[in-house]
Amino acid sequence: MSSPTDVARLGEEVPLLEGIRTTRAIRRLRKDPVPEALVRKVCEAGTFAPSGGNRQPWHFVAVRDPERRAWIGERYRRAFHEYIAPAVEASRDPGFPEAKRRNLRAALHLADHIHEAPVHLFVAGWTRRGRPQLQALFPAIQNILLACRAVGLGASLTTVHQAFQREVDAYLGLPEEIPTCALIPIGWPEGRYGRPPREPVDGRLHWDHFSAEPE
Ligand SMILES: Cc1cc2nc3c(=O)[nH]c(=O)nc-3n(C[C@H](O)[C@H](O)[C@H](O)COP(=O)(O)O)c2cc1C
Repeated sequence: MSSPTDVARLGEEVPLLEGIRTTRAIRRLRKDPVPEALVRKVCEAGTFAPSGGNRQPWHFVAVRDPERRAWIGERYRRAFHEYIAPAVEASRDPGFPEAKRRNLRAALHLADHIHEAPVHLFVAGWTRRGRPQLQALFPAIQNILLACRAVGLGASLTTVHQAFQREVDAYLGLPEEIPTCALIPIGWPEGRYGRPPREPVDGRLHWDHFSAEPE
């Protein structure tokens, strides 16, 4: 898979709702490179997101250079371990739910191996009256995650880099008015996509008014 026709076709056949139901955080990634055309394709999906006043505030910075990924990885790892320490402590309790433990292990794996992910895709955006409008970027971010699912790439949404945001933004050459919002590590998955664990919608869907115990 590398000709322009292959890239153009890849993922086009995945039904939308099936893609949505089987998109999950893929944090175990192979080191093999990802074709530039595919990175472009998933970012293009990002550009079809809605945005206030159709401002299309997004910029995508795809970091492939190994030295730059090592620089980012070192800081991400440090910030993530600090952030996750209370959860790691809580997980020592034998009663800690197994699904949460698996999630934690995968997130720690990503933190320890993020420098090996072939693409660090940063989504950066827009400030209004000096305040970052991060919410303006999340529809684009979700489109990218779904597009990765469609073409068979592994990806996950991360925001822990915000702990060293100014430093990383300067490193990426972003001006202050275009701060990074998310870092999406992308690569070919080691495992497979599948349905993520979710509560049934019926407990969360309320008709006409909120009820603590919906039918
Ligand atoms: C706003 C936001 C920030 C997140 N930040 C991180 C992060 O920094 N690192 C990480 O490993 N996962 C991060 N995640 C991913 C969540 O942990 C993940 O979506 C959740 O565990 C569900 O995973 P699943 O879809 O595989 O079930 C973030 C998710 C959201 C929505």
